[in-house]
Amino acid sequence: MGSVFTVSLLQHKVTFLVGPEESRHFYRGLDSEISQDEVSQFTVPTFGPGVAFDVDYATRHEQIRFFGDIMKPAKLRTYVDLMVAEVEGYFARWGQSGTVDMKHELELLVTLIASRCLLGEEVREKMFGEVSTLLRDINDGMRLVTIMFPRLPIPAHSRRDRARARLGEIFSNIVRSRRSSGGARHGDMLQCLIDATYKDGRATTETEVAGMLVAALFAGQHTSSNTNTWTGASLLTHPKHLGATVEEQARILRRHGDRVDYAVLAEMDTLQRCIKETLRLHPPALMLMRHARQSFIVSGKDSNGGKHEYEVPKGHTVASPLLLHNTMPHVYRDPCEFDPERFSAMREEGAGLAYASFGSGRHACVGEAFAYMQIKVIWSHLLRNFELQLESPFPETDWNVVMPGPKGKVMVTYNRRKLAATTTTTI
Ligand code: HEM
Repeated sequence: MGSVFTVSLLQHKVTFLVGPEESRHFYRGLDSEISQDEVSQFTVPTFGPGVAFDVDYATRHEQIRFFGDIMKPAKLRTYVDLMVAEVEGYFARWGQSGTVDMKHELELLVTLIASRCLLGEEVREKMFGEVSTLLRDINDGMRLVTIMFPRLPIPAHSRRDRARARLGEIFSNIVRSRRSSGGARHGDMLQCLIDATYKDGRATTETEVAGMLVAALFAGQHTSSNTNTWTGASLLTHPKHLGATVEEQARILRRHGDRVDYAVLAEMDTLQRCIKETLRLHPPALMLMRHARQSFIVSGKDSNGGKHEYEVPKGHTVASPLLLHNTMPHVYRDPCEFDPERFSAMREEGAGLAYASFGSGRHACVGEAFAYMQIKVIWSHLLRNFELQLESPFPETDWNVVMPGPKGKVMVTYNRRKLAATTTTTI
C-alpha cells in the first residue's frame, strides 16, 4: 500500500506514515497541530491525577523538563555507582553455575535498580516487595483493550486501580516525610522531583510527585527489561558479536581495571551498538500515535515506488509503526539481520529520523541515556563474570500485550568466570 496509508478502526481513521521523510511532521510538528493528548487519554487511570495526560500541555511540558533535568550527564554520573552496587549485589547471589530464566532475573534486577535510583532508599530497603507487586498490577492493567476502553470494569483494571491508589499513598507519605524532616539530602531522582519548581515558582505537590514516579516507572521499566533480555538473546545467538563485546570488556579492563563509572561506560562502543541494533529489531514501543489537529501534507511513495504528496486530514489518528520504520530496506542493508556494525562510523545507517526506537524530535525519550547506562552496567558485568549459553530457542515476540516483549521463559545456563584483562578470550 505504499508508505502512507489509512486503515479504518471502529470509528477511527488511522493513517500510517512509514519512513523518515514521511514522518517528519509526526515527530517535529507542533503539539498544537499534531498532538498526543487525544490518543493518550487511556493512560490517565494508570499514571493518575495531576500528571502526564491528565494535565494541559504547558504543565506536562514542565513535568517532562523535570525529567530532562534529572537525566542530564552531571546527574547521570551519580547514578552509575548505585547501579553498579545493585548489579554486583544481585549477581553475587548466583552460584558457581546454574540455569535461570534470564527474562525473570533481568526484570527483577531492573526493578531493583529503579527502586534504588528513582524511588529512593525508603522503598528499596523497606517496601521493595510490596511496591514491586503493585507495579506488576499496574503494568498488567495495561491491556490492548485498555487503549479503547481504559475504564472497562474488568478484573485487571480493578487491580490496576487498587494498586495505583496504594502506590499514590506510599509515595505521598515518603514525599511528606522527606519534606517535613527538611534538610536530609538524598541523591536519588525522587529528591530531584520533590525539589523541582514550575516556572511560576510553584513547588510540585505530593500527588504530582507520586504520579511522575509511576509515569517514569511505566515509561522506563518494561522497555528496559525487555531490551535487556532481547540484547542477551541476540548476543548469545551471534557468537561473532558476543566475542566482540567480550573482547571489548577485556580491553577496557586492561585500561581501567575493575572500575565501572560514567566515563568507562562511554567507552563501550561495541556493546552500545549491539544494544542499539537490538532496539532497532525489537522496539519496545511498537507504535507511536498522534492526533491530527490540522490537515497536513506528507510526501511518500506508492506501492510501485512512485513519489506522491498526500494530505492527512484533520481528525485522523496518525501512527508511526516503529518495527516497519526501523527495517526499511532502502535505509538498512539486510534489514532483518542482527548487524550492529551498521551503526559504525564506516556505515552510519539509520541516521536522523530513520531510527526511532526512542522516538525523535519534540517528544524524544528523555530516559535514553539512563536506559543505555543501565543496560551497559548489567551486560558488562555479565560478560565479564559469566560464560552464558541460551538453552531456549531464540524467543518469539508476545504480540498480545501493549508493549511486546520476549514470549515465555528465556532459559540460560551460566558458569562463573573472571575475565582476565590480559588473556585472549575464546567463546
Ligand atoms: C529501552 C528503554 C526505553 C525505550 C525504548 C523508550 C522509548 C520511548 C519512546 C519511543 C518515546 C517517544 C514516545 C512518543 O513519541 O510518543 C519515549 C518517551 C519518553 N520516555 Fe522513554 N524509553 C525508554 C526508557 C525510558 C526511561 C528509563 C525513562 C525515564 C525514567 C523514560 C522516560 C520517557 C519520557 C518522560 C518520555 C516522554 C517524552 C516527551 O513526551 O516529551 N524512558 N520513550
